[in-house]
Amino acid sequence: MSEQMPEQGTNAAPDKLRVVTIDGPSGVGKSTVSRRVAAELGFTYLDTGAMYRAVGYACAQAGIEVDDPAHQEALNKLLAELDLRLLPPEKEGDEVRVFLGDEEVSAAIRMPEMSMAASQVSAVPTVRARLTVMQQEMGKAGGLVADGRDTGTVVFPQAAWKFYLDASPEERCRRRVAQLRERGQEVDEQETLAQIIERDRNDQERTIAPLVMAADALHIDSSHINADEVVARMLEVVSSG
Ligand code: DC
Repeated sequence: MSEQMPEQGTNAAPDKLRVVTIDGPSGVGKSTVSRRVAAELGFTYLDTGAMYRAVGYACAQAGIEVDDPAHQEALNKLLAELDLRLLPPEKEGDEVRVFLGDEEVSAAIRMPEMSMAASQVSAVPTVRARLTVMQQEMGKAGGLVADGRDTGTVVFPQAAWKFYLDASPEERCRRRVAQLRERGQEVDEQETLAQIIERDRNDQERTIAPLVMAADALHIDSSHINADEVVARMLEVVSSG
């Protein structure tokens, strides 16, 4: 009889959800690493940042300023009617595809100006409540790798494997600039660094679901190690239970 090998990522403690959470600041490489970890494990990849970006985009399109009390009713209506879908990328290595109704917004939500819009909507309790429920629904059956800011603390506190991926703002700026230039976009390094620092502050200082490391997460500093090493470290942890 052949020996039964445990399937990777299936040996979670019984009280845990078979979910991997990867949180950390912007530009740290979470999406690259998460996509690869998900592919290796045969899990679905959930890009929660794309969901906040999509809401930021929808608000911008509708002229809704989330900080303006006069716009709260319109925001609530937008959230109640939100038809947001995430689909797997067309080819391996690409970003997740994002749709608002029938409109594909995958490229639009990843434009630099949408980063700040996403950060602003992500501080609004009603937005977080709506997206958190959608994310929990997607993860309830397990087999998911979620990346974001609060996936290990708020969305999936019972996740079996939690990571906090970190790198210095300067290193994250260097990577972001390289990525945007590769896409043919013009970018100013000082401005990019200032934006990264401002977004860190927004994400860490907001009162609701701020960016903090879960007490039971493993901290990985990727400032001096590449994505291959980060992925290998994560898979090692997941396969060891
Ligand atoms: O990961 P990203 O850059 O695509 O995220 C866009 C914004 O959304 C970011 O400023 C923080 C916010 N966000 C959040 O508050 N919670 C998450 N789980 C994911 C993203």
